[in-house]
Amino acid sequence: RIAGPSGIVIFGVTGDLARKKLMPAIYDLANRGLLPPGFALVGFARRDWTNENFAKIVHDAVREHSRTPFSEDVWRHLAEGFRFVQGAFDDDDAFDTLAQTLLDLDRVRGTGGNHAFYFSIPPGAFPVVLKQLKRSGLCEPHGEEWRRVVIEKPFGHDLKSAVELNSLVGEVFPESSVFRIDHYLGKETVQNLLALRFANQLYEPIWNNNYVDHVQITQAEDIGVGGRAGYYDGIGAARDVIQNHLLQLMALTAMEEPVTFKPNDLRREKVKVLSAVQLPHDLASGSARGQYAGGWQGASKVLGYLEEDGISPDSATETYAAVKLLIGNRRWAGVPFYLRTGKRLGKRVSEIAVVFKRAPHLPFSRSDTEELGSNMLVIRVQPDEGVTIRFGSKVPGPAMEVRDVSMDFSYGQSFTEASPEAYERLILDVLLGEPSLFPQDREVELSWEILDPFEKHWARAGSKLEQYEPGSWGPASADAMMAKDGRKWRRP
Ligand code: BG6
Repeated sequence: RIAGPSGIVIFGVTGDLARKKLMPAIYDLANRGLLPPGFALVGFARRDWTNENFAKIVHDAVREHSRTPFSEDVWRHLAEGFRFVQGAFDDDDAFDTLAQTLLDLDRVRGTGGNHAFYFSIPPGAFPVVLKQLKRSGLCEPHGEEWRRVVIEKPFGHDLKSAVELNSLVGEVFPESSVFRIDHYLGKETVQNLLALRFANQLYEPIWNNNYVDHVQITQAEDIGVGGRAGYYDGIGAARDVIQNHLLQLMALTAMEEPVTFKPNDLRREKVKVLSAVQLPHDLASGSARGQYAGGWQGASKVLGYLEEDGISPDSATETYAAVKLLIGNRRWAGVPFYLRTGKRLGKRVSEIAVVFKRAPHLPFSRSDTEELGSNMLVIRVQPDEGVTIRFGSKVPGPAMEVRDVSMDFSYGQSFTEASPEAYERLILDVLLGEPSLFPQDREVELSWEILDPFEKHWARAGSKLEQYEPGSWGPASADAMMAKDGRKWRRP
């Protein structure tokens, strides 16, 4: 579907996210013919830019980061709808100028009064921008028009602040106009989880505690904190990734089949399963945290977290976090879900591994089956997107020797279409008013309800964090957490 007449205003347009993700995604959508002909993009920032400067910045971002080939025609047409409004968030005049600019665009570009306000700004700035949108009347559509707000994470830093934020946003925009970004939901492989489970007969009968031993959900990166110290320090791996991306992956893996894929049906099932999450009795042994040390990662010498630019040398922020969760319902009782995320780990990989129970009886002699593991289904979210099934197979030869092999589905091999970037899909859905892939207020609050007790426990436990080697798979306590349950982390 092609978006109808509309425009987007980006607050925080000078930031990294806008340059690396939002601007290229908007261009790619235009290039694929999915934006309306009169689409408008308005940048709002304090920077002393002209419309031309702004267009040049977008141009450079697009040339560097877009996925689709550059077309001069598409670009020229798109760039005619670019405007820049200079101002601070507390500057009434700047917001009046913004309102006037949008009115002009409605006239000259035909945006129809349909505007999305994209908050790519620190949460501390949300209240003032929301207040301005209300004061200037920008949040209020007339007649058939729509106004929507798009909110980047972090959505609060605990349950209390998330509830406050939800109510603050709710005073200005109705929940149906609020689009909270969790870019993992924009990934093809994540959406495919629903197809895998609910468009097939093969998996669902064994997707429960009769057959599943446990589930491991991993988001690992080989890079460090990079230039994001200001955002990351004080937030840490658990708030940055577990609270949002990993709990959403867990919800999609564990939820019941929705009645339909309509937004409310889908969200209802996610809320249900998140409400059923139970924490381990002992939070200390059911979780692990660490900080990457300096050293060699492959052939490069890398800094430890505490030596990175902008990080205080006694920071107690974790760069690795793992938690064990249970789900108190009939399908999942007794099946732990282990979630882990970290920076400077062995490699960049996100995956969901469903590990099945071992066969109840093996009619082979022990020595022949030593290598035989449990069956496993791995949804490879990224990179190398696809699905792997691991199972035992006879090694050719006279003996009945069984060894693990795998069967792979790879997007690259099965489909010729390249997957669109997550932000492309999400921005298009905002313009279409299609909210399925955006977490609702309740989901966000439930996710904080799950994480808060861990955060409190870690805060009580003190500030000295276990260090782990760069390029490793995290701190020793993470392995100990699994070993205590008689299990092991996968090495993806
Ligand atoms: C973001 C986090 O939400 O997700 C980052 O803030 C992290 O710290 C990123 O690097 C990972 O996204 P992806 O799509 O590369 O796995």
